[in-house]
Amino acid sequence: MPDADVTLDVDFVRSQFPAFGTSALQDWRFFENAGGSYACRQTIDALAEYYTETKVQPYGRYPASAAAGQGMDRAHQRWAEALGVNADEIHFGPSTSMNTYVLAKAFAEILGPGDEVIVTNQDHEANTGAVRRAADSVGARTHEWGVDASTGLLDPEVFGSLLNSRTRLVSIPHASNIVGIENDVQLLTAMAHESGARIIVDGVSFAPHSLANIAELNPDVYLFSLYKTYSVHQGLMVVRNGLIDELPNQGHYFNAALSGKRLTPAGPDHAQIASAGAVLDYVEVLAQRHGESSVPLRQSVGSVSKLWRDHENRLLGPLLERLRAIPGVRLIGPDRVDESARLHRCPTVAFEPAGRKPAAVVDELAKRRIMAGSGHFYARRLVEAAGLEAEAGVVRVSFVHYTTMEDVEALGSALEEILA
Ligand SMILES: Cc1ncc(COP(=O)(O)O)c(C=O)c1O
Repeated sequence: MPDADVTLDVDFVRSQFPAFGTSALQDWRFFENAGGSYACRQTIDALAEYYTETKVQPYGRYPASAAAGQGMDRAHQRWAEALGVNADEIHFGPSTSMNTYVLAKAFAEILGPGDEVIVTNQDHEANTGAVRRAADSVGARTHEWGVDASTGLLDPEVFGSLLNSRTRLVSIPHASNIVGIENDVQLLTAMAHESGARIIVDGVSFAPHSLANIAELNPDVYLFSLYKTYSVHQGLMVVRNGLIDELPNQGHYFNAALSGKRLTPAGPDHAQIASAGAVLDYVEVLAQRHGESSVPLRQSVGSVSKLWRDHENRLLGPLLERLRAIPGVRLIGPDRVDESARLHRCPTVAFEPAGRKPAAVVDELAKRRIMAGSGHFYARRLVEAAGLEAEAGVVRVSFVHYTTMEDVEALGSALEEILA
């Protein structure tokens, strides 16, 4: 573990991201990271190497092919180590939306009338729509665990009141892509399991800020999108606790005995899967830079995640403070950082700018070379529950560990000027 007073070396971090050195993005400040992050140099190099040296059908009987297959296997092993699970529990699919779609199809085959599922309205649609449709298609009952309209937060007590012996499946976000606050996955998973239900957790908006120990949290499924996590455009899905054998095969019939193919019917993207683990090389380089070497990957991942979170907290406090001071700005989600809190307030900040169209604010930011986003970000149910006009949505400014205090100060000043 690096010393408690070690802080993230952001200059070093940025030296690992070619986007900061390219003229195309020079002088731009990036605040749409929740949409998709920059890729680290290790990811880009791995892709170039795969396409140059091993771009053949993998798992064949000649060296280039064997090397390609070994690269793909290694990505499974590295991610398993990073997340504290087994390599055969790691599945790569084209995106999280595709992974949840296939999962929901599989659940539809084992649910029926009399069964119940619980979904939230805090989720990105990818993690709720397919499950709702699956339940509807077989006559199972869907309960919506709704957010508090004023805070956007989910109350575990309400969840407890919806759970019962008929609940078969629960689907929740680890953190919302609008509200930013981490939900207590460990608690909610224990509650779901106590009731005999399976639980799916969407970690897409959480993973870029902290790579969780999935074995400790213990959900049955944990999903996130690597392209928002400094890596390739793939969805990573962890499937645990024997669920893979319980769900009917969604792939080719002759592959039914191969657990790695049962829930990912799309042909694998060889190059991206083989390059998916390179971001963990970046994590290790970062751990070494901050005084930690020759330790298990999971330990480096834990230490680096803490460095990321601490850095984000240092920047998020002042940003929220400036936003709170702008008249008419309504922040969606917690408007303060509590550094001692166990649950992380991710730096995904959404707000309603009084009397202004969110898209117009984003245009004004772009004129000042600041990249941000507006709309409902596919969390339309949440935006509507918060009483906002869905199409206009919110302004969202999201950052990660490579963001600097100067970036945040420039953003704060720009927003004060635009919203004056
Ligand atoms: C919280 C959340 N869940 C799921 C998704 C869907 O991920 P993908 O784009 O990989 O399908 C997104 C994408 O923005 C998201 O933000």
